[in-house]
Amino acid sequence: MNLFDVYPVQDITIAKAQGSYVWDDHGQRYLDFYGGHAVISIGHTHPHWVQRIEDQMHKISFYSNSIHIPLQKELATLLGEVSGKEDYQLFLCNSGAEANENALKLASFYNGRKKVIAFKKAFHGRTSLAVAATDNPAIIAPVNETSNVLFLPFNDEFALAAAFRQHEISAVIIEGIQGVGGIIEATASFLKAIRNLCDSHNAVYIADSVQCGYGRTGKFYSHDIAGVDADIYSMAKGMGNGFPVAGISISPKFKAKHSMLGTTFGGNHLACAAAIAVLETIREEKLMQNAAEVGAYILDELKDVPNITELRGRGLMIGIELPEAFKQVKANLLHKHHIFTGEAKPNVIRLLPALNIGKTEADHFIKALKEEIA
Ligand SMILES: Cc1ncc(COP(=O)(O)O)c(C=O)c1O
Repeated sequence: MNLFDVYPVQDITIAKAQGSYVWDDHGQRYLDFYGGHAVISIGHTHPHWVQRIEDQMHKISFYSNSIHIPLQKELATLLGEVSGKEDYQLFLCNSGAEANENALKLASFYNGRKKVIAFKKAFHGRTSLAVAATDNPAIIAPVNETSNVLFLPFNDEFALAAAFRQHEISAVIIEGIQGVGGIIEATASFLKAIRNLCDSHNAVYIADSVQCGYGRTGKFYSHDIAGVDADIYSMAKGMGNGFPVAGISISPKFKAKHSMLGTTFGGNHLACAAAIAVLETIREEKLMQNAAEVGAYILDELKDVPNITELRGRGLMIGIELPEAFKQVKANLLHKHHIFTGEAKPNVIRLLPALNIGKTEADHFIKALKEEIA
């Protein structure tokens, strides 16, 4: 049997990983400034995370949501504390798309409406309504097409207000910083406008925090810069540091009813153990503070480097836009300097390293980038 060939892959096999470094099967070491797409939050094979998962495996790895799983409550309490949303409620699932799918579904249950506002260049996942709310026609199959999603220009308060005047809106879904879209940050003023319009129209504000959340920007949710709360936060990637676990944090105004949401694997024992280990580490090692400090250092060091068209981002979610002539830079960083980075169209280098990188790793990257472009 062959693999279904949907991924363009680098000709590299990673055999081992630790912290912010990975090694290929020939022993070559690479600096990981990509984190497998923002997933590695506390560093590869972090000892506390390994220990928690290993201990849990010896007890019980999985049972369905038909029994008590105290680890879920432990996770919810810890998430409430670390995220600063202690009165919110947690529903656990398995991926970012599934989290957004459940958020949009919950919004529609709540106000009985169908229309969703999403934004140009948004990415919310590859399933049903999540992909319909993703601004990329190439990944929307005919069966996913719907007239229920309106795509508006990002950060455009007039277009937003006009859409609320013209339609009965169920939900607005927005990334605090668009990741796949090229590291484009929502303004505090725009997020506040979403909050106000949702309040006055009984619509639901969904903060997609799958990529920009979990401490990456120095705040737990990047949307927190606006000083207003969303109704639902979706999260995934950094939540398990590579163990598949996702969830939505739900405002107390939503009342749960049995069977309105559900999943077989979501919230299983092992997933909870991994997610608890991540939050404990974020708290113990002050990783949000580190992400803010090292991120600010990188942005500062790069701000006067010639040939950068635009430098964007916050904390450890950084986009470096380069002119077309430098389109080989990402490949050179990987093959010449042995540094993994991400990319976004048209020519943006995306940095999504673990939240515990230090200045040594930052300087290693900055030196390599300068060699390539300055
Ligand atoms: C902002 C955002 N939302 C949702 C998703 C979908 O997450 P998953 O691939 O876990 O379904 C992604 C994945 O890249 C994302 O970046």
